[in-house]
Amino acid sequence: MDHRFLKVSWDGRVGKIRLHRPEVLNALHTPLVEELAEVLERMDQNPEVRCILITGGDRVFAAGADIGEMADADSVRMLLSDQFAQWERIRRIHKPIVAAVAGYALGGGCELAMACDMIVAAETAHFGQPEINLGVMPGAGGTQRLTRAVGKARAMEMVLTGRPISAGEAWEAGLVNRIVPLENLELEAMKLCREVAAKAPIALRLAKEAVLKAFDTTIADGLDYEQKLFYFLFSTEDQKEGMRAFMEKRRPHFRGE
Ligand code: HXC
Repeated sequence: MDHRFLKVSWDGRVGKIRLHRPEVLNALHTPLVEELAEVLERMDQNPEVRCILITGGDRVFAAGADIGEMADADSVRMLLSDQFAQWERIRRIHKPIVAAVAGYALGGGCELAMACDMIVAAETAHFGQPEINLGVMPGAGGTQRLTRAVGKARAMEMVLTGRPISAGEAWEAGLVNRIVPLENLELEAMKLCREVAAKAPIALRLAKEAVLKAFDTTIADGLDYEQKLFYFLFSTEDQKEGMRAFMEKRRPHFRGE
């Protein structure tokens, strides 16, 4: 299938998606986000894919939502266009998603990276929510995921001043998993993806779900939820295989069953 704003490839069990709208620094207009949601859903359904990598260019991951597309909009048009339905599709992807970020991840670009499960950042990465400079505010998770990731003080400063933070600051704040030299970004991100992709797919899916659950429930409900998912995994072949392989001192071979 042809893609207009993405470059899609496969590397073993890892599905790779590169945002590709370089003339506007990967600005996330509706057709791009729609295409991204479609490709992600297809990868989510494809048993060959065990982990997904989203990356951008060397200079920019994504400079945010497309300002040109929104500039003349009014509230009603924004409401009716329902662009967040596409973001909701991205949120519902079950497979682990790693973002590899170089350069700017601003506004919707930062929000997209945060919608992923892990972030590998190049030393050149900058994360920011500059919407305040446009007279608006974040709309795709920038006040929610960012606050949960970096805490109130840092999130407030980023959202109220619009000033981005460096890769180093993002790492200190717990927003990113690791920082690597730009030339190693894809290599290191792929290493992480391959490590995850070797695990049992159903366990990955439920483990992702359980970690995300921690953001919107009480500890007691979250622990109950975790236990139920844990019990459920004992009805999978991969649990039998994983534990048998340990006892037999060999590597497990997970089939996603
Ligand atoms: C549309 C954009 C764009 C954007 C850059 N461009 N960002 N077009 N939407 N978000 C276009 C520029 O207009 C320009 O087009 C070309 O890309 C190159 O950008 P420059 O500004 O010339 O590059 P540079 O000087 O290197 O500056 C890079 C930058 C700057 C710092 C990233 O482009 C910038 O500040 N961009 C806007 C960042 C932003 O405010 N993001 C938040 C958007 S709101 P021409 O035609 O002149 O070459 C948002 C809300 C999310 O994300 C809500 C949920 C979806």
